[in-house]
Amino acid sequence: MKPKKVLITRIIPDVARLLLTDAGFEVLEHQGEGPMPQDELIRRAQEVNALITLGADRLDNYFFSQCKHLEVIAQFAVGYDNIDVEAATGVGMPVSNTPDVLSDATADIAFGLMMAVSRKMFFNHKMILRGQWKQFEPLKHLGMELTGKTLGIFGLGRIGRVMAKRCLGAFDMEIVYHNRSRNMEAEKELGARYVSFDQLLKESDVLSVHCVLSEETRSIFNQQAFAKMKSEAIFINTSRGGVHHEPDLIEALKQGVIWGAGLDVTNPEPMLPDNPLLEMPNVAVLPHIGSATIEARTGMARLAAENIITYYQTGKMITCINPQVLS
Ligand code: DGY
Repeated sequence: MKPKKVLITRIIPDVARLLLTDAGFEVLEHQGEGPMPQDELIRRAQEVNALITLGADRLDNYFFSQCKHLEVIAQFAVGYDNIDVEAATGVGMPVSNTPDVLSDATADIAFGLMMAVSRKMFFNHKMILRGQWKQFEPLKHLGMELTGKTLGIFGLGRIGRVMAKRCLGAFDMEIVYHNRSRNMEAEKELGARYVSFDQLLKESDVLSVHCVLSEETRSIFNQQAFAKMKSEAIFINTSRGGVHHEPDLIEALKQGVIWGAGLDVTNPEPMLPDNPLLEMPNVAVLPHIGSATIEARTGMARLAAENIITYYQTGKMITCINPQVLS
């Protein structure tokens, strides 16, 4: 029998290719620096049975209309807002993602951004680079402490829960959260209190975003939302840039409506170097590196490959997003 062909749409840790090859698959890898344009992605997808995709690949309704023959897709990311899951489900195609393996790494970045913003670390570092460190300044660039403050989590899933745990352990922070539904396990573990979205905005000293990007959450952090937050509040986003309205965030920071912001995700990405956020003292921005650890990326590659292998061996997947298509 001819081996099944799997296309990996970027170079990812080797473990994926090795596992697939060992299991008898023929593996093709896109060698380019960036993502393939959609027409090239479709053309190459038409020559294979399965795909490992990344967040920058656009798998929309048109893609699925052209690639109905694909048997399975494994996304190398926990987020899958680049995939029209309804369209995949419509053509009976199972899709998986990579939860859990990157929760620690991403929560670490949220925690690090919170620390960096609260003490203006990025800004003070830039001052040294500019030769502006002259002497001890008793009244300049004062940050704020986090002990005993209230952490608000928007989206208390796996990553939000790790962030909350870090903040509870390090700073004894009170945890409030807002989700579509209550997370009773996390409430028990963290003493977290469920609040309405408005209450979350009102009560949080640090508000950390960990939700998925959907039509419901797109631009939910906008002018109206920022206006309800405390003027000393810090906004952290490590989920997707589309969840905040970036011009409104810039304005809220400029006008002192909120105190600071830490972003690992921006809108759009990449952020341009002349973005005013990059010059603000109470802002820290990173280039979407939440999952960028050796452990997390290796775990993501392994899980993506194992999802494909398991699908062909058992008809199931380990972390399927649309399990209703699996018989
Ligand atoms: C994820 O896994 O969703 C990360 O943001 C990388 O895309």
